[in-house]
Amino acid sequence: MILSGGARIAGVIGWPVAHSRSPRLHGYWLDRYRIDGAYVPLAVPPARLAQAIAALPALGFAGANVTVPHKEAALAAVDEADALARRIGAVNTISVRPDASLFGTNTDGYGLIQNLDQGARDWPRDRPAAVLGAGGAARAVIVALADAGVPEVRLCNRTRARAEALADQIEAPIAVAGWEARAGALDGAGLLVNTTTLGMAGAEPLAIDLGPLPADAVVADLVYVPLVTPLLAQAAARGLRVVDGLGMLLHQARPGFRMWFGRDPEVSAELRRFVLQDLAR
Ligand SMILES: NC(=O)c1ccc[n+]([C@@H]2O[C@H](COP(=O)([O-])OP(=O)(O)OC[C@H]3O[C@@H](n4cnc5c(N)ncnc54)[C@H](OP(=O)(O)O)[C@@H]3O)[C@@H](O)[C@H]2O)c1
Repeated sequence: MILSGGARIAGVIGWPVAHSRSPRLHGYWLDRYRIDGAYVPLAVPPARLAQAIAALPALGFAGANVTVPHKEAALAAVDEADALARRIGAVNTISVRPDASLFGTNTDGYGLIQNLDQGARDWPRDRPAAVLGAGGAARAVIVALADAGVPEVRLCNRTRARAEALADQIEAPIAVAGWEARAGALDGAGLLVNTTTLGMAGAEPLAIDLGPLPADAVVADLVYVPLVTPLLAQAAARGLRVVDGLGMLLHQARPGFRMWFGRDPEVSAELRRFVLQDLAR
């Protein structure tokens, strides 16, 4: 698409940013909906983050996504963050308001829930969920699950103190369990979510006995390279419903696109194939 002088501009701020799939994803939607707009990678080192975010209005940006390692620092760099971003402690989507002030929110949890709703319809949200990992992604996942009505989040992390700190900071019904006891946390659970980096290409697989999970439980992995992680393969072999990490990545991008470019974009099978082509490289 050839841009006009009035094109709307957004981008993704990260360091490094070359690995980000967001320009390809938003570029697909801009092309698909024939929107006069662009979405660009913005490589910003930590020391220049505040300066870069503050410059968005002056440069005429409609807004930006924020990715690793800036999501926590972005919370302090916006003029106003919504209650969700403040609870999570991180911002991943910024919009520039008409008065040139910066509004921040966090759409990672929205991405998870939309992906579950689309990929595992009627997932059992009335039972406890087990969450593995207590890093940045886990915070958004736990808040989203609590807001979706999950009555208890059983949180297991290799470093137990990090899980306990997270449980102290986040207002949600969290029960911390030991990493070694992670299979026990699956007993009677409706959902298992892996938010650790285990199972990523190049990392060791996540070792867990899925035996205690009820037959109607759903297993979700945030890792999306490879798309079918050893955990998802193990769960599928047991006949459990599975939801991969790519869907969450695609859905979390929707609110930003809507804010900046004025259209609610669709997460379609064709989009998944388009982004997967890039992941396969
Ligand atoms: N699909 C999506 O849209 C989406 C969105 C966000 C993130 N993600 C993915 O989610 C994953 C986590 O991201 P993050 O930002 O939360 O990372 P992070 O803050 O670095 O947290 C990493 C987590 O993995 C755990 N971990 C790492 N190595 C481990 C090992 N050998 N054994 C057990 N646990 C281990 C860490 O435990 P310790 O605390 O003990 O170190 C921590 O809980 C990444 O793969 C990321 O790509 C996907």
